[in-house]
Amino acid sequence: MRTPKNFFSPLALGAPEPLKEIPFRPSRMIHFFDPSNEKMRAKVAGIAPTVDVLLGNLEDAVAVDNKEAARAGLVEVGRNWTSGETQLWTRVNSLDSPWFLDDLMTLVSEIGDKLDVVMVPKVEGREDIHFVDQLLAQLEARARLDRPILVHAILETAQGVANVEEICGASPRMQGLSLGPADLAADRRMKTTRVGGGHPGYLVRQDPEEGRDDSDRAVYQQDLWHYTLSRMVDACGTYGILPYYGPFGDIADTVACEDQFRNAYLLGCVGAWSLHPVQIDIAKKVFSPEPSEVEWAIRVIDEMGDGTGAGMIDGKMQDDATVKQCHVVVNLARELAAKDPDLASSYGF
Ligand code: GLV
Ligand code: MG
Repeated sequence: MRTPKNFFSPLALGAPEPLKEIPFRPSRMIHFFDPSNEKMRAKVAGIAPTVDVLLGNLEDAVAVDNKEAARAGLVEVGRNWTSGETQLWTRVNSLDSPWFLDDLMTLVSEIGDKLDVVMVPKVEGREDIHFVDQLLAQLEARARLDRPILVHAILETAQGVANVEEICGASPRMQGLSLGPADLAADRRMKTTRVGGGHPGYLVRQDPEEGRDDSDRAVYQQDLWHYTLSRMVDACGTYGILPYYGPFGDIADTVACEDQFRNAYLLGCVGAWSLHPVQIDIAKKVFSPEPSEVEWAIRVIDEMGDGTGAGMIDGKMQDDATVKQCHVVVNLARELAAKDPDLASSYGF
């Protein structure tokens, strides 16, 4: 365990100073691509300016025979990377795989200056983060990097969920967490066979009534991910890092994807993964506050003066706490608008 005294010390001689605070950078969508696929690599220059984060995926969904081609393809992408505000991330293979070590060693030494965040799958506890942290420090020192590469963990095992707080607090490199519903479902022995989203069997049913047929009793589908997402949001908030919903695998069901993303947004997440270009616009829409919400929030802040006391606006009670909520919305709108001129004009900034 690193004590408060040395928590922010570099872990290797010559490694860059750890950050004291995780900077908020727009990351409404983490757009996944397979760098082993030449056609996808050719599209990178066109897609990069349309997303907040582009992620070269080396782990699941890349076939075993393509693992090395994916790593080499990402090095090629990184060498040609000139995409300004857009962040370049990677998802490396898991710590117990035969590829992890070469993934990290190659990427940091070849394109470490271009990589913002390394996403680590199947993180179980703080020891996994400590291992990656130390290795990254060694590699950063060797590559003479002048800023630290951050770490993002996927929450996708029962043990990872049980240890979520210690994972968030394991290193100053921790940038955020994503929910990994597919692996998590398998690890927990949930009986779903999909990537994220709901399930029609997970429901509550209206009580029976005299004279009413059972088939008339309304059913309400419930959110399978509410518990995990809520734990994740609280753990991230506690440690000052960022929570994300992960993947939604039914690409054709854009409506349910939007709903799932919005649940995550309302609970406190800052973004989600996009696995297909149609999900980029969904995430952009959902994870940017609505202009009407921003307008309302600005009005509450203005009318509430110094932000203390109680008042009524359009029949709704406002006080110090509603003013704080309004600041959350307006601050997010300003941070996103700084990168997105269309959004800025929709907010009237
Ligand atoms: C993502 O990696 C997932 O398992 O859902
Ligand atoms: Mg997974």
